[in-house]
Amino acid sequence: MKIIMATGNANKVKEIRQMLEGSDIEVLSLKDVQIDAEIDENGTTFEENAAIKAETICKLTGQMVMADDSGLEIDALGGEPGIHSSRFMGEDTSYDIKNAALLEKLKEVPEEKRTARFVCAVAIARPDEPTKIFRGTFEGRIAHEIKGENGFGYDPIFFVPEKGCTSAELSPEEKNSMSHRGKALKLAVEEIRAHI
Ligand code: IMP
Repeated sequence: MKIIMATGNANKVKEIRQMLEGSDIEVLSLKDVQIDAEIDENGTTFEENAAIKAETICKLTGQMVMADDSGLEIDALGGEPGIHSSRFMGEDTSYDIKNAALLEKLKEVPEEKRTARFVCAVAIARPDEPTKIFRGTFEGRIAHEIKGENGFGYDPIFFVPEKGCTSAELSPEEKNSMSHRGKALKLAVEEIRAHI
């Protein structure tokens, strides 16, 4: 079975393919289906943005499409960067700079107030059917320094208390088994299987 993943982010396609390895679901990227769409993510929640992306590509292709929208909510910043995570300080700014800026903003914030979470909404759109949406969260804290080489984005400043390290220090398998995207995707995959 084929499903199109409505993202231009190669990291996400890679993570999702790893998660679905061994299953009979083949994940195609937008590049694989030669679609180069500029989608206006103008929703106000992760769920709305995931649905906008999945439904736009579903209308263009007539195929089942999965889209995700995710980000980092930092409680001490009122939930920011949140749905603006990739646009925070500009799309083209490196994550070394973004992560250093967030650590600087939080430099006076004590340990117990450094709570944060990654959130992911996964939407599945099919022609002529209501879109289904699933949410996963990954609770942690903002670290005091940038650490780790794995993952992407804000992983090097996201401290995972159960593991005693940042999510950038986890192996891809460890991260997938506990991450926001892993959890939302697991629910989405169950739904897809139930539907076959
Ligand atoms: P999206 O492509 O609109 O979903 O933006 C997601 C953004 O949130 C990414 O570009 C990262 O900045 C951040 N983000 C989401 N998930 C993760 C993760 O697993 N690790 C690190 N950063 C993440």
